[in-house]
This record gives sequence, C-alpha cells and structure tokens, in this order.
Amino acid sequence: MLKKIEAIIREEKLNDVKDALKDIGIVGLNVFEIRGHGRQGGIKLAGRSGSYQVDLLPKIQLNIVLSEHNLEDTIEAILNSAYTGETGDGLIFVYPVEEVIRIRTRERGHEAVMYPGDIDERKGRKKA
Ligand SMILES: Nc1ncnc2c1ncn2[C@@H]1O[C@H](COP(=O)(O)OP(=O)(O)OP(=O)(O)O)[C@@H](O)[C@H]1O
Ligand SMILES: [Mg+2]
Repeated sequence: MLKKIEAIIREEKLNDVKDALKDIGIVGLNVFEIRGHGRQGGIKLAGRSGSYQVDLLPKIQLNIVLSEHNLEDTIEAILNSAYTGETGDGLIFVYPVEEVIRIRTRERGHEAVMYPGDIDERKGRKKA
C-alpha cells in the first residue's frame, strides 16, 4: 500500500522538518510555497491606519509518497520537528495512492519509491 502525506507547516520550520526527514531516511519529496488559513481565519496585524486582517498566510506544503509501513515513523518525525505549540503549527493530511511508476525503469509501487540508503535499507527491509 502506498500513501501520500501532505504536510502543511510553518515556513520557518522547513529546514528542521527537512533535516528530520533526512535523518530517518525519507528521500523523495516535493516542497510547495502555498497560502492558506486554518480555523483562526488568518491573523490581525496592527497597521498605520488601525488593525487589519490578513486572511491568507504563507505556509509550506510538503508532499511525500511512501510505503504504508513507513507512514507512522514519518508522521512522528514531522510532528516532532514542526511543533511549536502555538496556533498555526499546521496539519498533516494522509491519502491513499493508486500507483507510482518510475519512468526510467518502469518499476511500480513500493519499488518506485525506494532509494539507495533510504528508510527501508536502514531497517534492513528486503526490496519488494
Ligand atoms: N481543511 C483544510 N483543508 C486544506 N488545507 C487546510 C485546511 N485547514 C487548514 N489548512 C491549511 O493548513 C494551514 C495550517 O493551518 P493551522 O495550523 O492554522 O490549522 P488549525 O486547524 O487552525 O490549527 P491551529 O489551531 O493549531 O492553528 C492553513 O494555513 C491552510 O493552508
Ligand atoms: Mg490555525
């Protein structure tokens, strides 16, 4: 089973989260600069002519497609590295993934998201 993690995190946490993922052997990922809001609906800022509401705040989105057996370790690494305890720490969404195909080799599924020195090799897991 393949899963996709979509993690929305603080911009200033990107390096910490990237390092934490590298530490556990997560290799393949995408990073997007996005804007959005959660349940606070943005933030109120003090300006020259009174306070105003900024409703869309810059955030970072990380997309990772991985084998289900690595999902919980990866979520844990993100939770630990993206946390401040203040509102706006972000959200992690998890989706099922239908298929992944590495174009060069035509490998599919689990094999298509395995890399030299990755989380599976560190755990001594056999290639599927
Ligand atoms: N339901 C949602 N669907 C998609 N993206 C969302 C959703 N809710 C929030 N987001 C995105 O997640 C980002 C982070 O939201 P945020 O951390 O403020 O979540 P929250 O639910 O308000 O939690 P907290 O109370 O800790 O702030 C938002 O800026 C937005 O980009
Ligand atoms: Mg919020």
